[in-house]
Formats: sequence, structure tokens, C-alpha cells
Amino acid sequence: MIRHAADPGRPFEHFRASRLTPLIGAEISGLDLRKPLAAPVVEELRLALADHLVLFFRDQAISPEQHVAFGRNFGELHRHPAAPHVEGRPEVMIIAADETSERANGEGWHTDVSCDPEPPMGSILHIKACPPEGGDTLFANMYAAYDALSDRMKAHLDGLEAVHDGEHVYRGLYANLGVADKPSYPRARHPVVRTHPWTGRKCLYVNQGFTTHLVGLPREESAALLGYLFRHMAHPLFQCRFRWTPDAIAFWDNRSAQHHAIWDYWPHRRFGRRVTIKGERPVGG
Ligand code: SIN
Repeated sequence: MIRHAADPGRPFEHFRASRLTPLIGAEISGLDLRKPLAAPVVEELRLALADHLVLFFRDQAISPEQHVAFGRNFGELHRHPAAPHVEGRPEVMIIAADETSERANGEGWHTDVSCDPEPPMGSILHIKACPPEGGDTLFANMYAAYDALSDRMKAHLDGLEAVHDGEHVYRGLYANLGVADKPSYPRARHPVVRTHPWTGRKCLYVNQGFTTHLVGLPREESAALLGYLFRHMAHPLFQCRFRWTPDAIAFWDNRSAQHHAIWDYWPHRRFGRRVTIKGERPVGG
């Protein structure tokens, strides 16, 4: 059995946070994200994100401009290396799948754009149109995944680095949305265990989407170890599952959480917009 002591979290002054599970996810109520937020509210949202790793909001009919303004409270905005964006707004990525799609964005466990040398710190997804059923997103807690490893495995991972590559992820992914491929996509090396810059806690930082191999290990050893880590981090204990409704928002931390969008609704349409916040170069544990 995997044991993990859940942090009890803290109460907030400016909104209510209702947990989805003891380990990850909280639904936030009492805020209107169409309006500018005062600095103490933003600070409390940052604390809530540090505690819960992903925050959910319902019934927030924000425009792309309000979405950008909300995101900028938490840092400079990132431009996606491949995805389509709202016209005239390169920082607002479009997330869309319908009957013409052969693949959908975010299928499989990943953290956003971990192939960047400085991967995004967080992402804010606003879903406008939902399929009749399905299209949920799963989130998983990478502190808990790390904590649940044996001391021997932790010692083995200490100091290891992994390569994260965007090539196999992005090439052709947005063809049905009329986006031409770039000559190349980002590739970077990151520590397998990173220290979160806000909390100082260690989290597992390899993901099935982007991580291709562990640096300095024989190919088969790297594949076996990554295979184990990918199965381990996908244990349901570490997860929550969010059921979208029109105008719901999810705001996740890409350092401490992974996510997996479920594409079980073809030929129906799911449409939304994502604003992504720049991050820092990951530092090892
Ligand atoms: C993503 O940003 O990876 C997509 C998540 C989703 O569509 O639920």
C-alpha cells in the first residue's frame, strides 16, 4: 500500500476552497474572475495553488482579454511553440477537438511544454464548449508520487537527468486546425526529481508525454526505469478527476502536478482557451 500523509491545507480569507481529494485539487468559490483581483486575493490564490496543485472555478464567462489579465497576476505569459492561438493574441492558445480530429491535445500524462529549457510554471484552461459526456481531465500529485518511492529508489534517482523532447509530441498535432509544422521543436534536459521553487519540496519530474530517456544510462535500463516511474505516478491514489462544465476553469501547477486530458467524446466537440505562465529552469532535489 502507498501511504501519504495529506497536508490539512489552510483556510482562506477571500474565497472558499473545497478539496476534491485529500491529495490534489480544490474547487474555489466566491470569486468573479471577470474582474481585476486585488493583490491579497492573488497572493491567497498562489497559496491555494501551492497547497492543492490545481484549482477549479465554475461559471466564469471570461473573455480572452480577461483570461490574459487573470494569468498576468501570476507572471509573464508563455507563447506555445506549436499550438494555434486566438487571432491577435499569441499568448491565448486554442484547445479544440471535434469530428475532424485524429489526435487531441493533452492525451497522456504530461506537464505542459516540459521540453522547454524553462518550462511553464502554470496553465489556466477555460473550457467554453463541452461534449455531452466525457472530456474530463485527470491531475496527479508529483510530490506524493515522489514521497511514496522507497529510500533506495530516491537515492538511485538523485542527480539523474532526463531528456524532454517536443518533436514527437507536436509534429502534426495541430494539422487539422490548419497549423503548419515548424522546422524543429524544443528539447531540454531536466533533473528527474526537482525541488519546487515555492515550497522547497521534492517532486517527480518525468512524464510520459515528453520524457524520452534518462541521461547516461543504457537504453534498456533507462526505458525500464522510466516505465516503472510512469506506472508509479499514474497510481489512482495521487489523482483527482475534473468533470468540466461550460465556463469552468482549471489552474494547475506544472511543477508539482501532471495532467491527462481524456479524449473519449469523438465525434463531439470540446473547445477552450489556455493561458500559460512562464516558469523557471528546474533545479534538482
Ligand atoms: C492540456 O492543456 O494539456 C489540455 C488539457 C485539457 O484539454 O483538459
